[in-house]
Amino acid sequence: MKKSRIGVLTGGGDCAGLNPALKWVVKTATDERLVKERSTHYEVLGIRDGWEGLFNVNPSRWQTDPSITLLDSDIVRTWDRYGGTMLGTSRFSPFDPKNDVSKKVISNIKKIGLEAIIVIGGDGTLATAERFSTQGIPIVGIPKTIDKDLPETDYTLGFETALNVIVEEVDRLRTTAGSHQRIFIVETMGRNAGWLALEGGEACGAYIILIPEWDFSFDRVNKLIREGKKAGNRYEIIIVAEGAKPIGGRQIVKREGMDSFGRKALGGIGEVVAREIEESTGVETRSVELSHLQRGGAPCAYDRRMGRYFGIAAVDLIVNEHYGNMVCFKNGKIACVPLANICNKLNLVDPKTQYDTDRYNGRRTILYSGK
Ligand code: F6P
Repeated sequence: MKKSRIGVLTGGGDCAGLNPALKWVVKTATDERLVKERSTHYEVLGIRDGWEGLFNVNPSRWQTDPSITLLDSDIVRTWDRYGGTMLGTSRFSPFDPKNDVSKKVISNIKKIGLEAIIVIGGDGTLATAERFSTQGIPIVGIPKTIDKDLPETDYTLGFETALNVIVEEVDRLRTTAGSHQRIFIVETMGRNAGWLALEGGEACGAYIILIPEWDFSFDRVNKLIREGKKAGNRYEIIIVAEGAKPIGGRQIVKREGMDSFGRKALGGIGEVVAREIEESTGVETRSVELSHLQRGGAPCAYDRRMGRYFGIAAVDLIVNEHYGNMVCFKNGKIACVPLANICNKLNLVDPKTQYDTDRYNGRRTILYSGK
């Protein structure tokens, strides 16, 4: 029986859905019945803290190194019930121009004898996977990010659980907003893509939704609020994505500097919008930043299912030696795309067809293009 050692890691921001994917990678790779069919016995090594684990590990003693953990189906049995990632994650980039450690990572991969690696990540982590792949490392990717901004896939792990958080929190805010006749601004994540704000806002019935793909006018927002007041609305819920900005304005950053993937820490636009509305309309306005609550909690049923399918598909790619691909969900089917196709591209909301640029909300016609 042939033996093959594969690695799995989670990189970038955590989210719900990572643990279900890890569970099903391990269960599928080590499945006794499939072992016979494939004539290969897979051993799965969990790599701790993303790419950092492959840098930190002592390759000659990996069996006892805390950066590596041997996984089997007993260990992962209950993982799909939990949020976050049991392997830990980091935003460590081996190709960081200030400290390029990619050669050491490649050498560690070879010394440990990893014949393939499954990388679960968003744009930064998968771009790194693609670079290793072009350098001959057999890699497959699984898409995750609550922002759902990765191209070539209709789903990224974590998104639906995050939407559920938005809906639950807005439901909570409605009672206090209504009691006090206040406006509540709810700031969601979504640096470039407005999916969380748009679909979260549609799901919870928000009055106004502001997304990064469409710069908004404060005058228009205030006019909509006055219209709502006139119509007798006691309160309003406004959802704003962290990456949204007013016409002629800039994205609001929480703190200066960039992470190792070159990204700014966004946050604070909700507060800016709240201040502006209160000053212009005189209606008491509060803002709530949902922030990392959207990444926490147990995965919803959809993320457990999608984690399972993506995990199984990633192992299928390895069994068939279809390296350099990312599993994806396209037109209702699990499929795969070359990792190269997802680099330097984003899946954004198309304001022309997916957003009502007049009401600043979801569309009221779906089958036809007119508003
Ligand atoms: O990349 C996903 C994301 O959820 C972004 O929307 C957000 O800006 C970012 O993570 C924040 O992540 P962290 O605080 O972990 O750096």
